[in-house]
Amino acid sequence: MKPLVVYYSRTGITKKVAESISKELGCDSEEIISKRGRNGPFGFMYSGYESYRKKLAEIGETKNDPSAYDLVIIGTPIWAGRMSSPIRTYITKNKDRFPKVAFFVTCGGMDLTKAMAELEDLCGKKSAGTLTVTTEEVSKDKYLQSVKDFAAKISKGEN
Ligand SMILES: Cc1cc2nc3c(=O)[nH]c(=O)nc-3n(C[C@H](O)[C@H](O)[C@H](O)COP(=O)(O)O)c2cc1C
Repeated sequence: MKPLVVYYSRTGITKKVAESISKELGCDSEEIISKRGRNGPFGFMYSGYESYRKKLAEIGETKNDPSAYDLVIIGTPIWAGRMSSPIRTYITKNKDRFPKVAFFVTCGGMDLTKAMAELEDLCGKKSAGTLTVTTEEVSKDKYLQSVKDFAAKISKGEN
């Protein structure tokens, strides 16, 4: 199996999980860059607004062609109960080149109902596996076993 981890992270939590997954699988990873600055209260509020309204965000060029892999593992923080706007843009631009997909999300722990279903809908594919980790679990390094279980499941191609 040749997986690719693709993620967006505003404050480093999703990045930490992405790095653990790519280390566990020994695979490539790619960070999506938002062209808009998202720091401070305005950046926070604008990000929530974009996500809630399903807006696309401008992102930097990506370097890896997802069709060169057999599994794309997409990671995003949850904003206003949905995927982040930079990941919405990445999926919108690349979904025709996706092989199998799997998802991981990080969140404060609330209102996840729409997020995974929307990721599948936007990709037009069922996921080969999902992982949800809270900000607290990542901050306290209590997420590594979940990463190992997730990596084992998607490696086996269950689902
Ligand atoms: C604009 C905004 C909206 C958020 N909305 C939610 C939410 O609806 N539910 C939730 O559990 N966490 C929410 N969070 C918390 C983030 O999902 C969480 O802190 C995440 O781990 C941050 O990941 P990052 O460091 O990779 O950016 C929100 C954060 C931001 C910035």
